[in-house]
Amino acid sequence: MKIPISIKDVEKEIENISNLNDLQLLKSKYLGKSGKITSLFKEMRNLSNEEKKEFGKSLNVLKNDVEELIDREKNRIEEENRNMKNRNFRDDETLPGYYTQMGSMHLITQTMEEIKNVWMNMGFEVVTGNEIEETYYNFDALNTPESHPARDEHDTFYIDEKNLLRTHTSPIQARVMEKRTPPLAIFSPGKCYRKDTPDPTHLPVFHQFEVLYVDKFVTVANLKACLSTFIKKILGEDRRIRLRPSFFPFTEPSFEVDVSCGICGGKGCRSCGNSGWLEILGSGMVHPNVFKSAGYDPNVWTGFAVGTGIERIVMLKYKLDDLRDLVRNDERFLQTFRRINL
Ligand code: DAH
Repeated sequence: MKIPISIKDVEKEIENISNLNDLQLLKSKYLGKSGKITSLFKEMRNLSNEEKKEFGKSLNVLKNDVEELIDREKNRIEEENRNMKNRNFRDDETLPGYYTQMGSMHLITQTMEEIKNVWMNMGFEVVTGNEIEETYYNFDALNTPESHPARDEHDTFYIDEKNLLRTHTSPIQARVMEKRTPPLAIFSPGKCYRKDTPDPTHLPVFHQFEVLYVDKFVTVANLKACLSTFIKKILGEDRRIRLRPSFFPFTEPSFEVDVSCGICGGKGCRSCGNSGWLEILGSGMVHPNVFKSAGYDPNVWTGFAVGTGIERIVMLKYKLDDLRDLVRNDERFLQTFRRINL
């Protein structure tokens, strides 16, 4: 007996099929309980043993071929469906976009970058130092010998007798001068450490920047001009500065620099204690002893230095009243000052 179905018949039918449902129907038609191939298996019982052997063999081959064909087709349709889905998804511009939360720079970093750019635009070069510093550079080279009372004002984290966590960025001045010859103009930002209990105006880890300019004939007028430019660029063109005599071991004369109050414009209000001025940084003309420590001749070289806390400037710029907010990691606070530079 000849098998009345050939694989070609099935192939022809499959050509017209484009979905899984129709494929399933086709599968039942041949291989289902009362499918064509299944029925042929049933008919075998009417055959002689000889015929059965021959017929059964061919029928099994056909069955396997059909199964394989259907499986292959199933995979093809599924793959096509997946591709279609992806394509449709990509092309549908009406679908809502994904929300991806992007990171952004911390307010301190943002401000630090801004400050850095102002000084760089004035021709200052960025030089950084080490957070673990030698006692010598943190104090001695800056005209602050061991007996000097100014050392006590810096509540210092000592690592051992010779090393400490720098209490200010000023040691970078000493290191740069030791290595280079003037003229030089440097800007040095970085983290500093002091044994302070956190309160609204103190943090044990904070940031400073230092500015040093050394050349012949540098005067207080140069210092004032640079400071005024810096303040106007960072806090606004309407802000004025004033220099008040002060003391730092590494400068002579030394000045405390105030900026006109941003709230009352200098008239006097509650936030500036009615004075119209807010303290913003320390500065002065480089002390001859600092030049001597670096091996510079103080009769030839002159210079100015500036130093202050970035947090102090952030506070003034954004009118914050508690520095601790900067390190609380409260997302609501951070979101308020979120800025993404793409
Ligand atoms: N280093 C000082 C401090 O941490 C700040 C300072 C004052 C730096 C005057 C200077 C300066 O360069 O001239 O309190």
